[in-house]
Amino acid sequence: ALVVRHRMRSSGRSAKALAILRELEEKCGAPVGRLRQVADAMTVEMHAGLASEGGSKLKMLISYVDNLPTGNERGWFYALDLGGTNFRVLRVQLGGKEKRVVKQEFDEVSIPPHLMVATSHELFDFVAEALAKFVSSEGEDFHLPPGRQRELGFTFSFPVRQLSIASGTLIKWTKGFSIEDAVKLNPFAVSHVGEDVVGELTKALERVGLDMRVSALVNDTIGTLAGGRYYHPDVIAAVILGTGTNAAYVERAHAIPKWHGLLPKSGEMVINTEWGNFRASHLPLTEYDQALDVESLNPGEQIFEKIISGMYLGEIVRRVLCRMAEEAAFFGDTVPPKLKIPFVLRYISNTSLKTRKVVVEVCDIVAARGARLSAAGILGILKKSGRDTVKERDNQRSVIALDGGLFEHYTKFRECMESTLKELLGDASDSVIIEHSNDGSGIGAALLAASHSQYLEVEES
Ligand code: GLC
Repeated sequence: ALVVRHRMRSSGRSAKALAILRELEEKCGAPVGRLRQVADAMTVEMHAGLASEGGSKLKMLISYVDNLPTGNERGWFYALDLGGTNFRVLRVQLGGKEKRVVKQEFDEVSIPPHLMVATSHELFDFVAEALAKFVSSEGEDFHLPPGRQRELGFTFSFPVRQLSIASGTLIKWTKGFSIEDAVKLNPFAVSHVGEDVVGELTKALERVGLDMRVSALVNDTIGTLAGGRYYHPDVIAAVILGTGTNAAYVERAHAIPKWHGLLPKSGEMVINTEWGNFRASHLPLTEYDQALDVESLNPGEQIFEKIISGMYLGEIVRRVLCRMAEEAAFFGDTVPPKLKIPFVLRYISNTSLKTRKVVVEVCDIVAARGARLSAAGILGILKKSGRDTVKERDNQRSVIALDGGLFEHYTKFRECMESTLKELLGDASDSVIIEHSNDGSGIGAALLAASHSQYLEVEES
């Protein structure tokens, strides 16, 4: 009798767990009709964000990049990429149209977690020191014409209000960086929000005695777009699917009412959409997303990012499993204590095959929702650019440069995103090409440093 009762109890439990699973599946559902609504809402918000500052949740930030790399860039340049879990420093030798990237060397350093919530002073000192160390490894072939300063392209992957190509202020932190918190703990700490990012980095470079000039300040999406364009003239947009998610694209300057500057010669301006902050009633949100958001460092913000990007997918899964553990004793009579730790999720051991299958299904559901929504976002950008339908007369090709760990390493995610985009584009899908731009953002920043070099005019005159 005891055995029978136990069986009944456990089948009741697994029925409950399956009910939670099915409910998740239903709530995460993103059928094509809904994705189209998301894409349409995205284009509407893009228009609104371009019309006026603060006109939309989409900030549609002006990058001051009105010319993308041509291939003619030459010389040695540095790049620094800050904004994910790792930061990278890069040194490249650009050899012009024929030779392109002659040489590139890089170093990758993971950011000690305490610095992500420390003061900006500490964070930037750490970055400057790593850069100084990297500079000291310059080889025999490194060469700058006499009297020249080293120049750097700075990829800073957060929303920045640019004042020029090489200055700008941080609007807010995203992706678990929370330097403002330091202000509450220490009123003398610098919050960094609202301060010129380049000024801050330059001061840190001076503190470590490094003579280097920041020639370009770019978001990672802008760097990826520039890096992509360097190799493919048809690149019109870039998307990051990594720790965070975001997209940038080339806009016609006269379609940007809020731009009051001179009309660029190219007639174009690259826009950083900051689509991570997109939100619409059509988004399939669950109770887990809501709880994650409320308990996050930036409640109410970056909702699109919180249901798509790598920083959050595992955490959503953890919350689902937690509920299964609590309400359906899914992992046995007690809830595994580790499962209660936010952002802990990497792998789970000591489970039956049946349990693991359910866990895999939870992961698949959450990832598929993110992948399908990112495809909807891309459709939104294509629509805004008038490239979502085939134009037979001009044989148009639209290449989208993609980068980020989620895209690069999560095959299921990438495949789902690509097949969804195909499905959404129908006949036009052959004219849209997704291209992986491996570390395009680093090379892109170096290229933009080259095209905005302080020595350029001297050379050209
Ligand atoms: C976050 C940042 C954005 C960045 C993206 C990808 O959304 O706000 O600036 O491009 O992450 O790294």
